[in-house]
Amino acid sequence: MRKPIIIGNWKLNKTIAEAVSFITAIEPLVHNKADFGVAAPYLALEKSVKAAKHLIIASENVAFAESGAYTGEVSVAMLQEIGVKWTLIGHSERRQYFGESDETVNKKVLLSVKNGLTPIVCVGETLAQFEAGDTEKIVRTQTAAALNGLSGEDVAKLVVAYEPVWAIGTGKNATKEIAQSTCAIIRHEVEIHFGKATAEALRIQYGGSVKPENIKEYLSEKDIDGALIGGASLKVDSFTAIIDALKA
Ligand code: 13P
Repeated sequence: MRKPIIIGNWKLNKTIAEAVSFITAIEPLVHNKADFGVAAPYLALEKSVKAAKHLIIASENVAFAESGAYTGEVSVAMLQEIGVKWTLIGHSERRQYFGESDETVNKKVLLSVKNGLTPIVCVGETLAQFEAGDTEKIVRTQTAAALNGLSGEDVAKLVVAYEPVWAIGTGKNATKEIAQSTCAIIRHEVEIHFGKATAEALRIQYGGSVKPENIKEYLSEKDIDGALIGGASLKVDSFTAIIDALKA
């Protein structure tokens, strides 16, 4: 039985003070029916880690190199020094605006896993790819490329997030049937490369306009093991409603 994992992705939102105040408000409300956490901007991470007891605190990105001449980057070791144990990798906004490619995603995944930082690897097709019927091809390619070079044991411990780009921040969420069928495709791709036991252990999230009103629908699908949540993770009220929805 896979334990659901719910992560808020704050993107370019929240100062350090705002992050700490949010975490302090949410922390007493979490329960053990799911793992809960947030991906916070780099500057807010250290104090967020200190404020969190049960919440997972993830970075939103990490450098593809261990160190060196990469101005503006933050390394795995720097994150680990302040107690960060998880990171998003390959979010579609990184792919779209910051030149993230399947190759850099793979480098980041390998480096993170090697050093004990757990990745949440994001995959998903654009609207044009969805309309062209290329969803399956895109998510298979992105999944295989991101995980290339890992062992099955490594893959079983990380998380893959399926986020159709056309459903992010648009309010136009994928139906639970579309989300389920694409998450099943991702699981099948993992099975092809790493075997059935690994595929069955891997947790796969859906992301894209998830809200308190629809989260349970997604989680009732057999291959959806959680959610990566943007907009609805920014307010204490809506994140609380998500936490409460999963209590029963
Ligand atoms: P929204 O929930 O705002 O659609 O964002 C999804 C997302 O990108 C989470 O990583």
